[in-house]
Amino acid sequence: MKRNYFSYFLISIIFVIGMMASCTKEGPAGPAGKDGADGTNGSDGKDGVDGNVSCLVCHTAANMGDIHAAFDQTKHVTGSSWARGTSGSCGRCHSSDGFIEFARSGEEIGAAVSTPVTCQTCHADHSSLEDGISAPMRSVASPVVSIAIEGATYEHGMGNTCATCHQARRASTGYDNKTEDATYSRKFTGEDIAVYQAHGAIGPNGTMELVGDTLFVTFDVPTTHVYTSSTHAGPHHGPQANIFAADIGTVAGAPFDRDHHTDCAGCHLSKEEGSGHTFSPNIAMCNECHGDALDIEAEMAAIADRMHAVEVALEGIGAIHVADDGVHPMYASLPRDEWNAFWNFMCLWEDKSHGLHNFGYAKQLLTQAETALGL
Ligand code: HEC
Ligand code: HEC
Ligand code: HEC
Ligand code: HEC
Ligand code: HEC
Ligand code: HEC
Repeated sequence: MKRNYFSYFLISIIFVIGMMASCTKEGPAGPAGKDGADGTNGSDGKDGVDGNVSCLVCHTAANMGDIHAAFDQTKHVTGSSWARGTSGSCGRCHSSDGFIEFARSGEEIGAAVSTPVTCQTCHADHSSLEDGISAPMRSVASPVVSIAIEGATYEHGMGNTCATCHQARRASTGYDNKTEDATYSRKFTGEDIAVYQAHGAIGPNGTMELVGDTLFVTFDVPTTHVYTSSTHAGPHHGPQANIFAADIGTVAGAPFDRDHHTDCAGCHLSKEEGSGHTFSPNIAMCNECHGDALDIEAEMAAIADRMHAVEVALEGIGAIHVADDGVHPMYASLPRDEWNAFWNFMCLWEDKSHGLHNFGYAKQLLTQAETALGL
């Protein structure tokens, strides 16, 4: 018992001294102690992937340098349309950020600052670094959902990256959709006056009057006619996926049989033959398979000739105006078969492959146009 009382006493004293110490101001820190001895080595980690030869199939400075040099010359970098990507309706195809966001979420956004595509627009990060990996592609919705043709989709394998942008924005039904007779009034000035006075397609009871330096035109559009309501009328500038699918003209056609050409990259980025990131097909490479059986250049030249004849006739009826920088649709009221000729021509003209993306369909569209125009 006595010992216990003594212990309580001791504990109380220690407690009081502790309280006093905590009230006292702390003095300056003493000098640092000596370093302790090194600890024992940890066990070795797992080996990382070797920076091995398989990576160098692609990742040599020479290969990457060549790709950059080729790529920088293309319209994917130099084109003027990359400034257009600041609005929601243009951003997904005319800005890198807009495309990446569309690929990620399906949202159509305008880019805050619209910039051309870069390597990372189409490519993503490797998901693994094993031997034999291929170039990492950004994943896009597959199949690609058509903008212009309700319910249509496009399957181009790796080329779905391309087809997400390289497809039509408008169908002919966006123009040919009136159920009642109508009239439309427009004013033309400057160089347009002579163009419309010479060729203007104003419809059966249309009127044209020059007052001072302004040409007042009323387009008469009965239901037998179709009105071209914009000088940007047409499917938009890159309807390539639609030409493959044969779904954009006013004539029903058959899709390109793509058993041997499953995607855009197969023809437009054939690395072996040095076309690579110029995106331009190497026709010599094509001929290694096609040889004499299909004279690709002769076929394209024949389509180009027929397109030229249709172009001249369309200018004659006031459907288009041909200038140094290409073909421009005109405001016009045209009988339906002539308007269809205009539309079918625009699809081929905007596709820019001289029919190659679907020779069979190109011929059908041209035949419709030639018949309508009396060629
Ligand atoms: C078939 C071509 C190809 C092969 C093979 C390849 N890469 Fe790539 N790699 C690319 C492309 C294309 C990109 C994206 C373009 C860019 O970012 O410049 C890329 C990007 C990268 C990047 C930056 C983006 C990321 O994923 O972090 C690294 C790091 C990389 N590769 C490492 C490797 C390694 C390591 C190997 C070998 C195990 C390898 N690559 C094999 C084509 C290839
Ligand atoms: C983000 C949308 C987008 C993607 C993805 C895209 N393109 Fe383009 N492409 C364009 C635009 C826009 C132009 C025209 C730019 C201009 O003239 O201002 C163009 C131009 C081209 C041209 C014209 C020739 C030249 O000089 O470059 C070719 C060929 C082409 N693209 C092929 C492809 C292929 C093949 C793919 C897929 C590997 C692809 N594109 C992916 C939007 C895209
Ligand atoms: C579905 C994708 C898509 C959308 C949306 C889109 N474009 Fe394009 N646009 C393209 C492609 C692809 C090309 C290049 C076609 C080619 O070279 O074959 C192009 C080309 C152009 C060109 C270049 C024409 C030339 O030859 O110089 C202009 C200008 C343009 N687009 C404006 C616009 C505007 C403005 C909008 C929005 C109102 C828009 N585009 C929306 C895909 C699109
Ligand atoms: C318009 C889309 C697009 C853009 C932009 C693009 N690539 Fe590619 N790239 C492709 C496609 C498609 C392939 C073919 C992939 C395959 O065959 O596996 C490819 C293949 C490659 C390959 C492997 C084949 C080869 O040629 O060595 C490399 C490396 C590569 N790209 C690097 C780049 C670099 C670097 C840039 C930027 C300077 C770039 N790419 C820009 C679409 C693109
Ligand atoms: C069977 C091979 C082949 C396939 C597949 C193919 N193309 Fe083409 N493409 C060509 C050829 C050949 C041309 C004409 C090139 C020329 O006139 O120099 C062309 C022209 C083009 C042009 C116009 C180029 C220019 O100079 O303005 C664009 C854009 C284009 N193709 C995009 C695509 C897209 C997008 C796809 C996939 C949906 C695709 N191509 C699939 C062979 C092909
Ligand atoms: C590896 C062999 C091979 C290569 C390379 C090749 N093709 Fe083909 N292509 C074929 C085969 C096989 C067919 C289907 C049989 C046929 O119609 O000739 C075909 C079909 C076509 C067709 C459809 C013909 C039609 O009746 O409408 C076109 C167009 C075409 N190829 C263009 C090209 C172009 C352009 C290139 C080069 C960019 C090319 N091909 C490269 C093998 C090849």
